[in-house]
Amino acid sequence: IGSNIRYFEEIDSTNSYAKKIANEGCAHGTVVISEVQTMGRGRVGRQWQSDTAEGIWFSIVVRPDLEPENIQVITLAASVAVVEAIKETCGIICGIKWPNDIILNGRKLGGILTELSAEPGHVNYVVVGIGLNANQDLEHFDYEIRQKAISLKMYAGKSISRANLLGSILTRFEKIYKSILLGENRDIIDKWTAYSVTIGKEVKVAYKDMEYFGKALSVASDGRLIVECKDGVTREISAGEIQVRGL
Ligand code: BTN
Repeated sequence: IGSNIRYFEEIDSTNSYAKKIANEGCAHGTVVISEVQTMGRGRVGRQWQSDTAEGIWFSIVVRPDLEPENIQVITLAASVAVVEAIKETCGIICGIKWPNDIILNGRKLGGILTELSAEPGHVNYVVVGIGLNANQDLEHFDYEIRQKAISLKMYAGKSISRANLLGSILTRFEKIYKSILLGENRDIIDKWTAYSVTIGKEVKVAYKDMEYFGKALSVASDGRLIVECKDGVTREISAGEIQVRGL
C-alpha cells in the first residue's frame, strides 16, 4: 500500500479520482493525495471542507478478496490506523465515533468515506478516503462548522508534520488490512472498541427512514453497531447515522 502514489496540487475529490482509476484497473494499494480538494465529499452526500492545503486529504484503493457484506470492517480498521498514527506521531489521543468519525475534544478532527464497487459475492475495489484536519486555524473553517470542527494544530498549539502522520497511517493501515484478510476481525474490533466514544452511550439512530433511541452495546465482527433500542428490540445497524448524546 502506498508504493504507487498519485499526487495532485488540486483535484475535485481524491475519492472520485480513485474510483475512476480503480475502474480503469489501477493496482491494489494505489494512493491518491491532493493538497486541496475543490469538491471534497463527506458521508451521506455531505460536503467536506478541504479547500486548504493545511489538511491531509487522500484515498487508498484496495482490492480485497472478501464478501461485500464484510467490507465495513475496513472502515473500522482505517479509523484505528488513523487514531494510532496520531498518537504515535503527535502524542494526541483521539476517539472514534461509529463508524468513522475521528473525534478530539468532542469535535470532529477527521472522517472516512469508504466507497465500494461490488457485484453479488465479489468486491471489485474499495476506496477508503481519509480526511484529517491537521494544521488549520479556526479561521480556515467555514463559519457553520467552527463550533464542531478542530485541527491537530488547534489542539496542540503548534503545527504537526503532515508527511510523518500520513506515512504512519499508511504503514499502520497496511498492517491492519493484512490482518483483516487473515480473518483477524476480532482484534480490530477490540482495538476499535477501546478507542470508541460510542459504546456504552445513549445514541440516536436514523435507520431506514426511522429514528430509534437506545444504548450502543458493541460492534459485531462484521462491523455493525449493536443498539439496544428503547422499544425493546436490539438492532444491528450497518449504515445510517448515529448521534451520541453529549457529542
Ligand atoms: C465524513 O463525512 O466524515 C467523511 C469525510 C471524508 C473526507 C475525505 S478527504 C479525502 C477523500 N476525498 C473525498 O472527497 N472525501 C474523502
